[in-house]
Amino acid sequence: MEIKRICCIGAGYVGGPTMAVIAQKCPHIKVTVVDLNEKRIAAWNDVNTDNIPVYEPGLSDVVAAARGRNLFFSTEVDKAIAEADMIFISVNTPTKTYGVGKGMAADLKYIELCARQIARVAKTDKIVVEKSTLPVRTASAIKDILDHTGNGVQFQILSNPEFLAEGTAVQDLFAPDRVLIGGDTTPEGQKAIQALVDIYANWVPKDRILTTNVWSSELSKLTANAFLAQRVSSINAMSELCEKTGADVNEVARAIGMDSRIGPKFLKSSVGFGGSCFQKDILNLVYIAKSYGLNEVADYWEQVIIMNDHQKRRFAKNIISTLYNTVSGKKITFLGWAFKKDTNDTRESAAIYVADDLLSEQAHLSVYDPKVTEEQILADLNYLDTRSETENTKGIIVENNPYAACEGAHAIAVLTEWDEFKEYDWQKIYDSMLKPAFVFDGRNLLDKKALEKIGFVYQSIGS
Ligand code: UDX
Ligand code: UDX
Repeated sequence: MEIKRICCIGAGYVGGPTMAVIAQKCPHIKVTVVDLNEKRIAAWNDVNTDNIPVYEPGLSDVVAAARGRNLFFSTEVDKAIAEADMIFISVNTPTKTYGVGKGMAADLKYIELCARQIARVAKTDKIVVEKSTLPVRTASAIKDILDHTGNGVQFQILSNPEFLAEGTAVQDLFAPDRVLIGGDTTPEGQKAIQALVDIYANWVPKDRILTTNVWSSELSKLTANAFLAQRVSSINAMSELCEKTGADVNEVARAIGMDSRIGPKFLKSSVGFGGSCFQKDILNLVYIAKSYGLNEVADYWEQVIIMNDHQKRRFAKNIISTLYNTVSGKKITFLGWAFKKDTNDTRESAAIYVADDLLSEQAHLSVYDPKVTEEQILADLNYLDTRSETENTKGIIVENNPYAACEGAHAIAVLTEWDEFKEYDWQKIYDSMLKPAFVFDGRNLLDKKALEKIGFVYQSIGS
């Protein structure tokens, strides 16, 4: 079966870049990305591709190459579903904030809405692809809805989890370590798998395209993220021990990373991991394990989250105790707000939680991030609901110039590892600050020796 038209529901950090790359690599396929959010679609259609809603290095060029040719962004969901042979579901699956599984289970309400919409609109056979990370066995729920409420057409459900990391999405999509496709073991299921394999084979070597059953595929995504997050929590656990013992976590990481069984990646100690996936997927895994009565399994993975929460809180506590046990009325500058460099995404960013703790101690925060807007920063804080919106607005100033952000500050906290921070004129920053001038480097990004030479009191994580 040859796919000629693809529809993707959800024009977010996953749907947008993934479809842009498929469209660029497969000019013979018409790709339409739809979303309920009109503002978001309008931004994807902005004549100036620098204004697209997702910031990713290289993405605006990919969009510029394919948009209007075979890549389209639209709010006409029904029309795009009706004409597509293959439909990707790429809507968000936030952690539930209500009812059973609150704070842990994935909220599948948007997924179910999509399934019902597809069932209602489809007049021809469709392959439905889960791109969103989902709890194991969601595919069978989607299939149930489609088969029982549809117009008698045939549906095949595939799981095709996304492994791209934000900030390197385009590169990850161009040259993925692997593409994973899960489907039914029936002949129809195998045909559907082949149709999706053929799409990726336009640019991904065949030996990097893995096919499995649906459940292995769904669980592999959760497992991959759990393992990655676990590495960060493991090295962060060591960072605290390093601080107490006089070891240096960067040296420990280098020493263990050279063991080829361990490997050098994902061993950077930090103020804590963030992003839309790690915490959500692990909580989801914990919830699934508990629901099968596997309490030891659940507790084991939950510890990764507990460690991460501790790391964020510990960073804020250290700032307070170092600044003579009070930050009340003191100006503290945040360099960075995004959950990692090269993205404008702030979901679950450690910066939010550190800011929250410092605001509770009545600090005055000044924030500079090269890609995050003031509106987003305030929305992140308001979402926590610790204090009123007026109080948040009063406690925080967002600057678009890093030097202005640092002027008159007692301390600087580095929350995101943006490359540009390394290039700043640190002498000039030092001269404009109150003394002693502190730097709390939550990313072990800056040059300790150079800063100390200028006169800064410099503290990193894990040494
Ligand atoms: C994705 C995945 O879908 C999620 O499961 C994964 O764990 C993280 O990445 P992401 O693309 O980052 O989500 O989410 P987001 O940027 O919020 O985009 C989702 C889009 O879907 C939003 O633009 C939202 O408006 C849209 N949407 C949501 C719909 O169009 N219809 C809906 O019913 C729900
Ligand atoms: C992750 C997975 O890597 C990706 O495969 C999946 O599809 C989605 O979830 P993402 O959340 O975009 O991607 O970013 P990632 O690079 O994994 O970083 C997650 C968090 O861990 C960031 O806050 C990052 O700063 C932190 N991190 C990462 C560390 O603190 N130390 C490290 O060594 C690596």
